[in-house]
Amino acid sequence: MSRSITIAVDGYSSCGKSTMAKFLAKELDYTYVDTGAMYRAVALYALRNGYAKGNEVDSAGLENALDKIDVAFGGDGHVLLNGEDVESEIRSMRVSECVYKVSSIAAVRAKLVEMQRKIGKNGGVVMDGRDIGTVVFPDAELKIFVTASAETRAQRRFLELRAKGDATSYEEVLDNIRKRDYADENRAVSPLRKAPDAVVLDNGNLTIDGQNKELLRLCREKGVEVNGLRG
Ligand code: DC
Repeated sequence: MSRSITIAVDGYSSCGKSTMAKFLAKELDYTYVDTGAMYRAVALYALRNGYAKGNEVDSAGLENALDKIDVAFGGDGHVLLNGEDVESEIRSMRVSECVYKVSSIAAVRAKLVEMQRKIGKNGGVVMDGRDIGTVVFPDAELKIFVTASAETRAQRRFLELRAKGDATSYEEVLDNIRKRDYADENRAVSPLRKAPDAVVLDNGNLTIDGQNKELLRLCREKGVEVNGLRG
């Protein structure tokens, strides 16, 4: 029997964490959990219900409304906000502009971290986020910390948004990424940190193929069966 481990994929925004985590989940037949999508769903709720406008967030109001917010994942992995599939809407710039403020609210983090621990309690998960290897699952067997320059990330995100018909400029995307990096590294609760035992992967330097091979090698090293071969 192969081991069903917990894999934490942490790093800055738009650095390819979800591509890596999805690849691993598919290869290993594990559950993929996009924790950023959960924070984004709460941010969307805040925008829709008058607790956020632009990047101004009414933290106390949102905290009081937390009981009315249900975040879950559908069978297709899409995030559900009070039962509604909001997978596409949570990727908009409107949400990106306020999500870093929403994710700095301690009560929001407490609620979502509790849910993440429940989802991952039996192992066999690949969870991507900022604090998975440090806070959510400090005992995760495999921790990966992904990096790439802000410019590389902005260029990728800009192309993604443009493909969806979003007219946000490269400069605006870069500015938003820098703001989110700053917020991620400097928030009082669970700031983005590399766990001491995390493996660093610089996504700017690797081809997709090279990256995938390295990810599978790291799994084999942990005794996980990959393609029927135990490494
Ligand atoms: O990964 P992403 O860009 O979709 O994340 C959206 C926001 O949520 C981002 O501002 C960082 C925050 N986040 C967090 O604070 N903790 C996590 N585990 C995941 C995301």
